[in-house]
Amino acid sequence: MDKVVSLCKRRGFIFPGSEIYGGLANTWDYGPYGTALKNNVKKAWWQTFVDSRDDVVGLDSAIFMNSKVWEASGHLGAFSDPLIDCKKCKERFRGDKLIEENLNLDAAIGLDLAGVTKVIKDNKIACPACKATDFTEARNFNLMFKTHQGVVEEAQTAVYLRPETAQGIFVNFKNVVNTSRKKLPFGIAQIGKAFRNEITPGNFTFRTREFEQMEIEYFFKPDDNETKTIFDKWSKDMYEWFLNLGVNKQNLRMRDHDQDELSHYSSMTQDVEYNFPFGWGELAGLAFRGKFDLTQHEKFSKQDLKYQDPITNEKFIPHVIEPSFGADRTVLTFLVEAYEEQQLEDGETRVVMHFHPKLAPIKAAILPLMKKPELTEKAREVYDILKNKFVCEYDESGHIGKRYRRQDEIGTPFCLTIDYDTLEKDNCVTVRDRDSMKQERIKIDEISDYLLLKLDK
Ligand code: GAP
Repeated sequence: MDKVVSLCKRRGFIFPGSEIYGGLANTWDYGPYGTALKNNVKKAWWQTFVDSRDDVVGLDSAIFMNSKVWEASGHLGAFSDPLIDCKKCKERFRGDKLIEENLNLDAAIGLDLAGVTKVIKDNKIACPACKATDFTEARNFNLMFKTHQGVVEEAQTAVYLRPETAQGIFVNFKNVVNTSRKKLPFGIAQIGKAFRNEITPGNFTFRTREFEQMEIEYFFKPDDNETKTIFDKWSKDMYEWFLNLGVNKQNLRMRDHDQDELSHYSSMTQDVEYNFPFGWGELAGLAFRGKFDLTQHEKFSKQDLKYQDPITNEKFIPHVIEPSFGADRTVLTFLVEAYEEQQLEDGETRVVMHFHPKLAPIKAAILPLMKKPELTEKAREVYDILKNKFVCEYDESGHIGKRYRRQDEIGTPFCLTIDYDTLEKDNCVTVRDRDSMKQERIKIDEISDYLLLKLDK
């Protein structure tokens, strides 16, 4: 993991947040290549799950919502972690995580606050910071960030940073039904920031307090026989989306939640897990939320949120299945998956990022062999032909070998080199393939079509 973190900093994928002020723990800023990678991830997701389907539409709702939303959704009451403090060094921990790490992964499942306190005490679990075994009792810690809208800080002005994008979808369900002419089953998708005051953030961008989600709420007519079929179809689509973008099957698995592991809104959940360098971790989740959310919002808002079947006129609250992806965890997965160190025959080590062409921040680099006016002029001509069709980079400074290495490290699928043969013999460029390092000569007139074909995998 350290090597990926170091490459991210060195090559401008991800920087520590607020670095010039000594940083702010567990915040990260995406640099130029990281931004391009993350945008490509979101674009690929939207393309697969919204644009190429006729049963999913998009939404972009506000982060701040009426506080009643969070009462209705259960987040004000139930969205909390069991927090304990070490009495000696005053460090704070998630009780359930301490149990998981010290006993086994399942030992904390289903424990209430008293149970967490008891298990930690009975097993003499030590403070990871100072090794003392004297903790406070576990107490609930709500994960939502609270602030105030306007200048007056009182109960009526309290607002929360949304902990999931999903609620923006539920409160707009009726608006979308009334304006989009969609009939059940259909989904509403949204990509946006979410915030959770996590007690133990860490593992680079895996667990942070500010992150981005890519979520779909897929609504359908309640039907016990159909639920599992729809759930399994989404499960397959989610799994295959990662495989199609280059994640190795061996590093990806689907894991069903046990009954006592389920969130307050879900009666069936499956996680997509990735084998990160620090172990298997949740990358995305699929939950059957039934009619929980719309029923709650109907109750709290006193608005009719039922769907009326246009043929039978029957009115009912639809059921919902929710595929929910973390954009940052997805980017982290593609970074980890792409990273390779290769020992070359000449004894050198080559670091290469094998991004899927759809995700690669730069699709082609245009490199004059040397910084000589006749070569740079021709290379700029090639760059001008390509730059409006593909995201390209022009680079003329430094030894050609070093420039190849740099492009390998940012995962550019193709390097195009302009040399004296281009000018004097064949009007071709040398195309170097990132993964195989094989080179071939391609006519400048044909290079656009060549790249189009190769990049559209
Ligand atoms: N609406 C359902 C929901 O929010 P979740 O399992 O809590 O479900 C969905 O979150 C996804 O959001 C996770 O699978 C993960 O990828 C991402 N996620 C959740 N908490 C995160 C955090 N603290 N940092 C980064 N990503 C997070």
